[in-house]
Amino acid sequence: MAEIFIDTAKIAEIKAAAAWGILDGVTTNPTLMFRAGTANRKEQTLKIVEIVQGSVSAEVISTDAAGMVAEAREILSWSEHVYVKIPAIAEGLKAMREISAWPNGRINATLIFSANQAYLVARAGASYASIFMGRLDDAGLDGIQVLQETRQIFDNYGLTCKVLAASIRSTYHVTQSLLAGADILTMPYGVLQKMISSPFTDVGLAKFLADWEKVAGK
Ligand code: E4P
Repeated sequence: MAEIFIDTAKIAEIKAAAAWGILDGVTTNPTLMFRAGTANRKEQTLKIVEIVQGSVSAEVISTDAAGMVAEAREILSWSEHVYVKIPAIAEGLKAMREISAWPNGRINATLIFSANQAYLVARAGASYASIFMGRLDDAGLDGIQVLQETRQIFDNYGLTCKVLAASIRSTYHVTQSLLAGADILTMPYGVLQKMISSPFTDVGLAKFLADWEKVAGK
């Protein structure tokens, strides 16, 4: 089964999605913290963990391995639910190698734009490889293809790193990610709402209720 995460740091959206009973986790990043209007990463992450006792990702700001490792030590100490997001750059690989050896070394490797990057972060011990599908499409590349290639490569070599479909922009991305065998999908609240919406369902429901009213109201 593929897990469903919401890609936001906004508490109202997380509460609304969690109330549906199908939410497995939350991903955040510095931009999403900015959109939620907070620079207090720890406080916001812990508020999120209180709502969703699943996987909650918080991202490092450092770009050198030593800085990332130091930040990861702090971030991972906040809660057993927290995953540390490390960018898929060479310094990030060094940091992942070190962090993944810790008993609590839960890593979400982020900003992945190729199957090669995904392979390297899996080798470095990441728990998740976040493929940025929407941004790949924005650049005229094929996000779904990168996701499919990553799935195939991880399966070829029995890599346990989970394939995370990130930067999802549409329900089309959702369906294609599920078809490609993504382990996790993280999406904005708006896309999650669209997953459950159909005008045909609304029209059908209105008709059922109107007909019921005709017979039961008699
Ligand atoms: C992943 O964890 C990122 O937070 C996210 O999916 C980025 O998506 P964007 O391209 O919509 O910013």
